[in-house]
Amino acid sequence: MTILAFLTFVLLLMHHSVSLSRPQCHSCEQTSCNCSRQNLRKVPTAPSELITDLDLSFNRLKTVMKNDFVAYASLQSLIMNDNKIKTIQEQAFDPLINLVKLDLSFNSLDTLSPEWFHSLLSLQHLNLLGNQYNMLGQGNLFHPLKRLKTLYFGGDNLQYVRKSDFSGLGALEEVIFDGQKLQAYAKGSLRQIGPIKYVTLGLNGPFHRNKALVEAILSDVVHPNTTLTFIDTSFITETQMSPFRVVDSSGTASVIFRNVIISVNAGLALLNTLSGSNVTMLGLENTKILINFLYRPNSPTMKHLEELFIKNADIPRFYSFPALFFLQPLLNVVRRVSMLNSTLFAIPCQSAASFSNLEYMDISDNLFSDLALSEMMCDGEGGLWNLQTLNVSRNHLQSINSQLFTKLDKLENIDMSGNAFHSMHETCYWPPSLRFLNLSSTHLGKVTTCLPVSLRILDVSDNALTVFNIDLPFLTELYISGNKLSILPDGHLYPRLTFLFIQNNNLQTFSRNSLNDYDHLQSLEAGTNTYVCSCDFVAFMTSDLTHQRVTIGDELKSYICDSPDTMRGRRVADARLSVFECHTALAFSLLLLGILAVFLLFAVLCHKFSVLWYMKMTWAWLRAKRKPKLKKGELKYDAFVSFSEMDSAWVETHLVPELEQAEPPLRLCIHKRDFIPGGWILDNIMDAIEKSHRTLFVLSQHFVSSDWCKYELDYTHFRLFDHNDDTVVLILLEPIDKDTIPKKFCKLRRVMNSRTYLEWPDDDEQIPRFWQSLRAAIKTPATDDGDVETDTVDL
Ligand SMILES: *[C@@H]1O[C@H](CO)[C@@H](O)[C@H](O)[C@H]1NC(C)=O
Ligand SMILES: *[C@@H]1O[C@H](CO)[C@@H](O)[C@H](O)[C@H]1NC(C)=O
Ligand SMILES: *[C@@H]1O[C@H](CO)[C@@H](O)[C@H](O)[C@H]1NC(C)=O
Ligand SMILES: *[C@@H]1O[C@H](CO)[C@@H](O)[C@H](O)[C@H]1NC(C)=O
Ligand SMILES: *[C@@H]1O[C@H](CO)[C@@H](O)[C@H](O)[C@H]1NC(C)=O
Ligand SMILES: *[C@@H]1O[C@H](CO)[C@@H](O)[C@H](O)[C@H]1NC(C)=O
Repeated sequence: MTILAFLTFVLLLMHHSVSLSRPQCHSCEQTSCNCSRQNLRKVPTAPSELITDLDLSFNRLKTVMKNDFVAYASLQSLIMNDNKIKTIQEQAFDPLINLVKLDLSFNSLDTLSPEWFHSLLSLQHLNLLGNQYNMLGQGNLFHPLKRLKTLYFGGDNLQYVRKSDFSGLGALEEVIFDGQKLQAYAKGSLRQIGPIKYVTLGLNGPFHRNKALVEAILSDVVHPNTTLTFIDTSFITETQMSPFRVVDSSGTASVIFRNVIISVNAGLALLNTLSGSNVTMLGLENTKILINFLYRPNSPTMKHLEELFIKNADIPRFYSFPALFFLQPLLNVVRRVSMLNSTLFAIPCQSAASFSNLEYMDISDNLFSDLALSEMMCDGEGGLWNLQTLNVSRNHLQSINSQLFTKLDKLENIDMSGNAFHSMHETCYWPPSLRFLNLSSTHLGKVTTCLPVSLRILDVSDNALTVFNIDLPFLTELYISGNKLSILPDGHLYPRLTFLFIQNNNLQTFSRNSLNDYDHLQSLEAGTNTYVCSCDFVAFMTSDLTHQRVTIGDELKSYICDSPDTMRGRRVADARLSVFECHTALAFSLLLLGILAVFLLFAVLCHKFSVLWYMKMTWAWLRAKRKPKLKKGELKYDAFVSFSEMDSAWVETHLVPELEQAEPPLRLCIHKRDFIPGGWILDNIMDAIEKSHRTLFVLSQHFVSSDWCKYELDYTHFRLFDHNDDTVVLILLEPIDKDTIPKKFCKLRRVMNSRTYLEWPDDDEQIPRFWQSLRAAIKTPATDDGDVETDTVDL
């Protein structure tokens, strides 16, 4: 039992140590692991079976073991350059049946084995550059790789290339062959593959020591459809150029030199050798051009040369570069010339004029000044009549001299970007054929009508423009990013504009309307601006933009709010504004309407239930209650008469004379006569009632319909209730059926029920009795005289 446990433990330990010995890769995504520069000594564990891309470059791998890739069956790309791999076990790549790309460059492989490639039936790209092998295995190395398209091989130690090395390869499109130290090449080795589209040769050693070997290689790869590139070679003497005879007679169309050193003499010898060849394109990239003593060769002619391409030419003594007038026969056939970043500072008018077929000229990244450009263009008076495109970007120009181009009636494109113009004239003279103008990064603070009206495409990006308002009726593309515009240019000035690039300005907003001003706009790119996230703008940007005529071409996440403060830094698409912010006017109107409605309702209710009056009355009554009750002697009137205005005739003609002229006369308080003018009517009423012994109500239908009378009655009723006194005298002027009195006069009904009342008789004979009774009623002393004063209010 213990032995079993021990064994299990050991097995576990071993298992553990095996998995421990495999490192982890720190940067894996779903299907790819970039384990570059992680100091790995072993192939790391696969995080999943789905990894398709594995980059193990710049690590410390030495040996690739046969189990290393068992877990990587889905791998399509395996990059292992710049390790120290010396051995690869034979079955190591067997699981990689899906592998398309394998990079083993810059390791220490000294032998190559066909067993590695047995299962790599999908492999298309193989890089074996920079290793230590001196030959490509023992023959038939690449035989299984039927699909191989690109093959990079060779290195410092490669010495022999045999015919069997390339057997089986049929579909190759690109070869890089580094044979600096090559000793032997079996004629026909590369030819058996068939024409290869791109062949790059690094044959520095052979070019110096063994030109026959170079010729043998060249004659295997030259073909009219092949682009031949020579790299990492120095061409100093004319004799070195003799192998190019092979190229001359092969019909090869494109020859490029990259990372080479070439002397002017060697260059001229090359041109002479290729005289009469079918070469149409000649290129020099990253080339050091040595100026040595110039001998006068024959003027070379290359009838078929169309394009001369020179880029990053390093010319140590560029100021002593010879004027190559004798190249005229060569130059006047050329249609495209590019001389980029080559410390070119002048082309004399005479030389320029010999480019009589030139359609395309690119002299970007050089040292041209206004004067030099003027000279090259012969002050606008000669040569370059066929020019269609001129690129003078990133030179040292300081002014826009359109007159140099006025007469070039085929000129369509001018790229002057990256110069320092700062300003432009008000008027310019461009050829009417001009369609494209690039003035980006030229420090312009303002544009003028100098801009050619015929333009289709204008680039004024990365300047300091604050407005753009030049009428350009044919413009279809406007690049104006990186300026300081705060509003969109007026669309009416650009009726044909289809694309507008206005990123990185100070734009605060735009709307559907401002976009619709552009009749033909299809795409707008306006990210990275200082947007004011107003409701309209946010609504527009978050609406379904896909159905708009104008689409937003750049990523919505680059549209960021700059204001209001609460929104700053937020994406416009994520900005959420409240209803109050968005419909301020509407929201406030609604609120006000609501308040108004409540007030109205309140007022109506007040009116309906006479709330106001009751409140006033309660208030007045409270005050009255607080006032000390008047003593008998202080009472001013015998009776206060409450009557409806309609009954005033009866009061004035009958009641007042009858009572006031009686013996003894009664003092009556009649509101029309005795109320203090200007006083509050309620106060007056109460005052009058307070100062009277009795309150006389003259009841009639009119009384019932009069509000004031009702109030008087109410108040008295309060008093009645309060003092339980006997001060009310009712006179019924006409018969009122108690049941016909409206409900709201419940008080009156109650009073009428609880008291007897005097009726104004129809019969004249009864009238004196009526007056008598009335006088008696008024004169009867009140029963409450001497009642306890109630100063406290208990409601
Ligand atoms: C892996 O990352 C390095 C930089 O760390 C980068 O240069 C390399 O291109 C990446 N490899 C792949 C396959 O993307
Ligand atoms: C060369 O290329 C042309 C078109 O690019 C093609 O028609 C022709 O067949 C090619 N010639 C050979 C030999 O591949
Ligand atoms: C050069 O091109 C012409 C047609 O452009 C062709 O007739 C001639 O055969 C080519 N020369 C060689 C050597 O291929
Ligand atoms: C221009 O050429 C020089 C070498 O002459 C090179 O160092 C530099 O990187 C090149 N510049 C560009 C922008 O290619
Ligand atoms: C001019 O050259 C610059 C720099 O090489 C390049 O970016 C630009 O596209 C060129 N312009 C044209 C019109 O070819
Ligand atoms: C204008 O020139 C700049 C710099 O050379 C370049 O990046 C840009 O693409 C050019 N514009 C157009 C519309 O080609």
